[in-house]
Amino acid sequence: MKKLHIETYGCQMNVADSEVVASILSPYFTISDSQQTADLILINTCSVRDNAEQRIRKRLRELVALKKKNKQLLIGLLGCMAERIKERLFEEEKVLDFIAGPDSYRSLPQLIEDASLGRIAFNVHLSEKETYDDIEPVRYDGNGVSAFIAIMRGCNNYCSYCVVPFTRGRERSRDPNTIVSEATKLYHNGFREVTLLGQNVNSFYWEAPNKSTDFADLVEEVALISPFLRVRYATSHPKDISDKLLNIMAKYTNVCHYIHLPVQSGSNAVLKKMNRVYTREYYLERIRKIKEILPDCAISTDIIAGFCGETEQDHQDTISLMKEVGFAYAFMFKYSVREGTKAAEQLEDDIPEPLKIKRLEEIITLQQQLSLESNTSDVGKTVQVLVEGVSKRSAQHLFGRNSQNKVCVFPKKNHKIGDFVYIKVSKCTAGTLIGESV
Ligand code: 5AD
Ligand code: SF4
Repeated sequence: MKKLHIETYGCQMNVADSEVVASILSPYFTISDSQQTADLILINTCSVRDNAEQRIRKRLRELVALKKKNKQLLIGLLGCMAERIKERLFEEEKVLDFIAGPDSYRSLPQLIEDASLGRIAFNVHLSEKETYDDIEPVRYDGNGVSAFIAIMRGCNNYCSYCVVPFTRGRERSRDPNTIVSEATKLYHNGFREVTLLGQNVNSFYWEAPNKSTDFADLVEEVALISPFLRVRYATSHPKDISDKLLNIMAKYTNVCHYIHLPVQSGSNAVLKKMNRVYTREYYLERIRKIKEILPDCAISTDIIAGFCGETEQDHQDTISLMKEVGFAYAFMFKYSVREGTKAAEQLEDDIPEPLKIKRLEEIITLQQQLSLESNTSDVGKTVQVLVEGVSKRSAQHLFGRNSQNKVCVFPKKNHKIGDFVYIKVSKCTAGTLIGESV
């Protein structure tokens, strides 16, 4: 059989999509981890910020040499860049043989065949229905312990800075029965953790003739598969994270006490321009509720520095919100204009680059301190860790995550990948808990 090499950039949803692609192509190709011997290379791309796209373009230039050596090699570009730039990519990146957007992966066998015959091949059609719910993803690159399950696709929120509604189309939920059966199969195949994925999982909704399922119901159904299958989810939009969900998280010990709740900014004026549809006060009220119902829950966030019109006071509002919440972790970015979005069309990207960088650095420095404080508060505690692999630094150590999604490193002893182990935390860094099994 021919060999397929897939490279995935961007978010967890892209990792899940690459596994769907591997499944669709499994009758024709086996997965190879070597690009040198591959007959087909697929690059699954991200458009979220300009630097994400630039990195991929650099990678495509590297592939030119490989293609010169191997004239039969086909190279296809998948995902958000395909959807955003469409056929123009063929002019800009001559190395590409075909492109496919996030909703057109079922047509890949045809696209590959057309491309191999030298025909122009692309499909960037966005669907209102496609959820790939009947396709069993091939977990070709995982640890055999933890897997992603895409529960919905697309996004209807139209945050003014974000390209996702244009690259991934309308929001649609997947039939919960197919989600539960996928999770059950994973459990029987030895997996011990699933992460339910969507751009905005809290608006998951499925209506069947005699039953409706919202996101909290779905989490409960998956949690009931086995107490030894951990459940996580990402990403939540603050506007609709419900008390019902928080109560389900408190009820089942296998639902992890970790919430990724992107705030983006601590300033009401900026949140309004971002079309986030909540205020700082509303966000802080949700945090208060999380801490009330789930006192040991870790909260992480996404923050954008230097959005259009951001004043020094707006920036300070973000700083003070970060301190007030005490995030355990954050993904932090400089604002990057994305063509076609409301911000690109209606707002001026008026924060000079050096000021964006300065604000971002302040945010990163503060978060480093907050992460260290959060981890320090765990020293002395005993935490349950699901073992994911051997530590990169030492073959005598294993690593895994606790319920709060914090990475823990500990001496191997007789423990194996896939075990749940109790670790007494003795010390930490801003990124890792360090301890020993008890
Ligand atoms: N510029 C910078 N960061 C962005 N994000 C999304 N769009 C942009 C943009 N145009 C960030 C947000 C989002 C995360 C996935 O990426 O913080 O939550
Ligand atoms: Fe990147 Fe967003 Fe597309 Fe994920 S959905 S690949 S983060 S642009």
